[in-house]
Amino acid sequence: MAKLSVNIDHIATIRQARGVSEPDPVAAAVLAELAGADGITIHLREDRRHIQDRDVSILRQTIKTRMNLEMALTDEMIDIALKTIPDSVTLVPEGRHELTTEGGLDVVLLQNTLKQKVALLQQAGIIVSLFIEPNIEQIKATHKVGADYMEIHTGMYCDVPTASGRREQLGRIELAISAARRLGLGINAGHGLDYRNIGAVVALPGIEEFNIGHSIVSRASLVGMERAVREMLELVKG
Ligand code: PXP
Repeated sequence: MAKLSVNIDHIATIRQARGVSEPDPVAAAVLAELAGADGITIHLREDRRHIQDRDVSILRQTIKTRMNLEMALTDEMIDIALKTIPDSVTLVPEGRHELTTEGGLDVVLLQNTLKQKVALLQQAGIIVSLFIEPNIEQIKATHKVGADYMEIHTGMYCDVPTASGRREQLGRIELAISAARRLGLGINAGHGLDYRNIGAVVALPGIEEFNIGHSIVSRASLVGMERAVREMLELVKG
């Protein structure tokens, strides 16, 4: 049965819009866990637009399930991860002007740096996942640099407007899952998944964990965090 890690970045986005102390992502994490979430994901961005360093440190002390820290491949972030020791790190590409993470990491291009940094994080006991497009060359490179997991970028599947386009993107995800399985690489997935589009992805066997943020926090703003998480859990776990 697949797991759900709830990304609570946008609770912090609302807080930062006012520069005050609420809503608190720590409270959101507690409620998500009470509703049954298997883990909590946060993305500490270089520009600190939502999650702050203080959140990372308090969440490390309060999360009872598993903490997944999404971050860019920079020396600053590697230092923070080594001080925090989250259960897992997901390395993502980051651009200052993007609204959210666009595209996957180019693992083929970054192989040498990644090999070193993945090993460094793993030596500290951290599980390492790389956020990549469902592309065979990227999957092979992810395996080659020693990562434990790939997180399949589901954005293209979620954004495509036609049924035939969606089928094509699901086919790419399915091929990515088989390739990763052959290599013994763990498989997570996320980005753009919501209550309507997740069903077809859950139906593909082999994905261990889904990382979902925007759709859950959006629904939580109307119906409450626990209900929003429980409804997504029903879809993820059937
Ligand atoms: N996975 C990764 C690597 C991400 O960068 C994000 C966005 O922060 C997500 C999953 C969650 O995406 P969404 O907010 O669209 O559910």
